[in-house]
Amino acid sequence: MRGSIVVDNPHVSNQPIALYRTSTGSVVAHSAVCTHQGCTVDPAPSSTLQCPCHGSAFRSPDGSVINGPNGSAASAITPLARVSVTVVNGSVYLS
Ligand code: FES
Repeated sequence: MRGSIVVDNPHVSNQPIALYRTSTGSVVAHSAVCTHQGCTVDPAPSSTLQCPCHGSAFRSPDGSVINGPNGSAASAITPLARVSVTVVNGSVYLS
């Protein structure tokens, strides 16, 4: 299934990870910690991640910023950090 989920990082508490399955079936991952003030972002429609605290939005495929907090420009905050993962027999592993 294509789309995003947010999961706990099994190695670091309070550092959830957003996993996104692309249209080709590969998986990309980014930190799910909002770069504004650290809330956990949520999967949202149209392959986006939305911060529930102040409304920042990010693109799931690459973690780039759509808009910053409270509707501010994308340049107001930094993108979500990429997390390296590998998929083996359908399971996703941090790498
Ligand atoms: S903590 Fe995410 S927009 Fe403020």
